[in-house]
Amino acid sequence: MNRKILVIPGDGIGPEILDHVVRLIEVVASKEGHTFELADALAGGVAIDAEGTPLPAQTLAKAKAADAVLLGAVGGPKWDHLPVDQKPERGLLGLRSGLELFANLRPAILFSQLADASSLKSEIVAGLDILIVRELTGGIYFGEPRGVEVIANERRGFNTYVYTEHEIRRIARAAFDLARKRNRRLCSVDKANVLEVTQLWRDVVNEVAEEYSDVELTHQLVDNAAMQLVRAPKQFDVIVTGNLFGDILSDVAAMLTGSLGMLPSASLDAHGKGMYEPVHGTAPDIAGQDLANPLATILSVAMMMRYTFDLPEVAARIEAAVEAVLDQGLRTRDILPEGSTGLQQVGTAAMTQAVIDAYGG
Ligand code: IPM
Ligand code: MG
Repeated sequence: MNRKILVIPGDGIGPEILDHVVRLIEVVASKEGHTFELADALAGGVAIDAEGTPLPAQTLAKAKAADAVLLGAVGGPKWDHLPVDQKPERGLLGLRSGLELFANLRPAILFSQLADASSLKSEIVAGLDILIVRELTGGIYFGEPRGVEVIANERRGFNTYVYTEHEIRRIARAAFDLARKRNRRLCSVDKANVLEVTQLWRDVVNEVAEEYSDVELTHQLVDNAAMQLVRAPKQFDVIVTGNLFGDILSDVAAMLTGSLGMLPSASLDAHGKGMYEPVHGTAPDIAGQDLANPLATILSVAMMMRYTFDLPEVAARIEAAVEAVLDQGLRTRDILPEGSTGLQQVGTAAMTQAVIDAYGG
């Protein structure tokens, strides 16, 4: 297999993690007998500094030409003063919409080795394995009109929360298909008691459900869903929701697993092309100090093998290598509970190397 991967390191801890994780991809390629052609490109704050825009046209073109994109993270305090439409995050949103990556898969799996790192009691999270399917190219993130205007000497900010039927239908189908491969339970999250757009969401999800009589569908309002996620998270199998609610609920789900540093994600188009990125951000406070946890990015590479390259065995071997290093007691600082014994704190480089060694590289 000869496939192209575009690496976009971005800002903050993104570049230092990707420097190491790229070596894992090379080891995977040589060990499994595949060729992954790696190229890189700028997006986010570094692209603003170098090219004056968070998403240079060349980056989007390269991303379109690649089979998969591996992204670090974008953003940071250096660019906070910029208007919203020029911030680093706009580069990420432009990639998502430019590549039509409407289905964002965010699995929250608790590795048993990390049960003590969760802020919840271990019996509430032990064995947790849920999948959040977030709509990624629509909703209030992209709705028009948007802006800040001045009316009668007062500023007025506005965004538009909009979904068309076909956008809801395709994300619902993606979520039902994924639920079919898991425990066949899907919970759709909306705010149908207040927002018309999410009443339509609920109606369309119910229509799609008729094609999936083997999957049990439930609905929850987003405020209740947030509460249920911390009260009894194991009631969920697959959650499907819109862009904004998915952003919020996936951070909650991430924290159940001990650390945002553990959560991978896949953003897929209708044809299996994908962009893979950790759910965590740029963590500017620890950037450049070899403290960042590379496991979310490594697990994102595993998702790339599974969803874009259709290599589930390779994905499983990468995931097993992550389990192995956790079994060895290696921990980056974010997953090292205070006062714990028998664990060894390691940095980004050593953690990645340990995964490579466990993989057999
Ligand atoms: C995420 C992030 C992004 C989002 C930001 C960086 C634009 O929070 O991927 O969850 O809001 O989608
Ligand atoms: Mg987020």
